[in-house]
Amino acid sequence: MDIWQDLEAHRAAKAGRSIADLFAEDAERAARFSARFGDMLFDFSKTTIDDAAMSLLMELVRDAKLEERREAMFTGQKINETEDRAVLHTALRAPGGPILVDGEDVMPGVLETRRRMAEFARAVRDGTITGAGGAYTDVVNIGIGGSDLGPAMATLALAPYHDGPRVHYVSNVDGAHIHDTLKGLDPARTLVVVASKTFTTIETMTNAETARAWMAGAVERPGEQFAALSSAVDKTEAFGIDASRVFGFEDWVGGRYSLWGPIGLGIMLAVGPEDFADLLSGGAAMDAHFREADLADNLPVLLALVGIWHNQVCGHATRAVLPYDQRLLRLPAYLQQLEMESNGKRVTMDGADIERNSGPIVWGEPGTNGQHAFYQLIHQGTRVVPCEFMVAARGHEPELAHHHRLLIANCLAQAEALMRGRSLDEAMELMAKKGLSGPEQERQARHRVFPGNRPSTMLLYPQLTPHVLGQIIALYEHRVFVEGVILGINSFDQWGVELGKELALKLAPLLDGEDASGKDGSTRMLIETVRAMG
Ligand code: F6P
Repeated sequence: MDIWQDLEAHRAAKAGRSIADLFAEDAERAARFSARFGDMLFDFSKTTIDDAAMSLLMELVRDAKLEERREAMFTGQKINETEDRAVLHTALRAPGGPILVDGEDVMPGVLETRRRMAEFARAVRDGTITGAGGAYTDVVNIGIGGSDLGPAMATLALAPYHDGPRVHYVSNVDGAHIHDTLKGLDPARTLVVVASKTFTTIETMTNAETARAWMAGAVERPGEQFAALSSAVDKTEAFGIDASRVFGFEDWVGGRYSLWGPIGLGIMLAVGPEDFADLLSGGAAMDAHFREADLADNLPVLLALVGIWHNQVCGHATRAVLPYDQRLLRLPAYLQQLEMESNGKRVTMDGADIERNSGPIVWGEPGTNGQHAFYQLIHQGTRVVPCEFMVAARGHEPELAHHHRLLIANCLAQAEALMRGRSLDEAMELMAKKGLSGPEQERQARHRVFPGNRPSTMLLYPQLTPHVLGQIIALYEHRVFVEGVILGINSFDQWGVELGKELALKLAPLLDGEDASGKDGSTRMLIETVRAMG
C-alpha cells in the first residue's frame, strides 16, 4: 500500500473517534501537537491528527524529497521548470549572500536595489523629493495581483507604524477604482507608483495611462511624479519614467512572492525603511527556521501537513483563514492568490494528471465580523470547513485593552465551540430549562445541536509588528511550497490565468460593434444586450 492509501485507511479506521476523545486520551496533546518558533505558537491539537497520522504525513514529506527541493529553491536552482526560472524571493529578504543563479551572485544587485529604494523612500518622506506642489501627501500604487495584494495587505497590517504619506492601492480595471481613489487627491502632491513585473498587464497599464492623463491636466512634467517597480526596464523607459525612479527585479521573483523587494515600495513609503527592514528580517528568520529546524518542529512543514490532511486526506475542499486582527483584513485575499494561484494545478511537474485534489479553496474574513455572517454554516452546516485562526496576544491600543481581551476571548471560544459542539442531551436540558417538554422540546432542541469535532488551528503571536508580519507571510509562503512539493506540482507558474486574458482582449472590440457571430449563443446574447443597454 502506498502512503496515501495508508493515510486514507487510517482516517477511515479512526472516523468514530473525536478530537475531544484525543484530548481525553492524552493529557499532553496540546504540547505535543503544537510548535513554537521565535515569536509565535502554532497549535494544531484541535484537529484529528494523531501520532500515526503524523508519522504517515512525515513519510509523505520524505517521499517527496522535501529537503532536497527546499535546498534547490534556496540555492537558486531552476525549480520553476515550466518557465525555466529559479525561485528566489527568499533572496529579497536575505541579509547577505552569496546566492548564485547561473553561477552569478544575485545579492549585490538585491542589496543595491534595497539601498536605492530606502534612499528614495527617505527623500519622499522627508520632503527632499517633492511634487510640483510641494512634499508628497499621497502615493497611489497602481498594480494588480501580486503587484497589489501583498503590499496592500502589508500596508494595512502595519497601520500603527505609518508615519509617511498616505498610500493608496488601485488595482481593478473598473474605472470606478481609480476614479474614487484619485477623487480629492492633489495631483501636484501625489506620487504615482506603477507596479508591474511585466509592465504589460492590461489593467495596470490602463490605470497608469489614466493616472498620467489626470496628472498631465494639473502639472507641467507629469513623468517626474511617477515611479515604476518592474523587471521590464525597457518598457518603463518607453512609458516615460526616469531610470532613477525605476526599481527593477529579476525573473526569479514570482509576482505573488514579490512584496519583499521593489513591489514593497508602497509599504516602505508608508512605514519607513527601518520598519520595512524589520519586515524583511522577520521573513528571513522564518527562512532560517524552515531551512534548519527538524521537520517535526518546523512550522511551515507542520502547517502544510495540516493542510494536506484536511484537503487531500479528509476531503475538505475549502479552508477558512480567520484572523482576529482587523488590520489583517486583506490577508485572506492575499492568501487566496498565494495558495490558489500557486497550487491550483491539474498536472504534476512532468505533465501527468494529478491523482488527487490540488490546492484548497481559501477564503475568510477577520473575526469577530465573520461570526455574525458565515460561522453559522461552519458550526452547523453539513460540510466541514477547517478553520485557521490567528490572533495577537496584545493590540496596539493599550487604552482599548478591554476590546482586545474580548477579541481574544471570542477567538478562543470559537475554536473551543467548533471542537466541543453541543449534544442533543445538552440541548434537551436547555429546552427543559425554558419550560419545554415532549415533542416540542425535542424539535427545538434539534435546532440547537452542534455536531462539534470540527477542526481548527491557532496561530498566536505577541503583537502584529513588522517583524512578526514578516514571519507570518514567509510561514505561509513556505507552507504553500511544502504542499506543492508533496503534490508534485509546480507552485511557481500560473498558466491558468492566460486563457481568460486572451479572450478578453479579443472580446473588447466586439463590444464596440465588431462582428460577434463567431461566439457561442450565450456570449453573443450578452454582447448584444450590453450594446443595447450601454
Ligand atoms: O494574472 C496573474 C498575474 O500574472 C499574477 O501572477 C501577477 O501577480 C499579476 O498577474 C500581475 O502581473 P504584473 O506584475 O506583471 O502586472
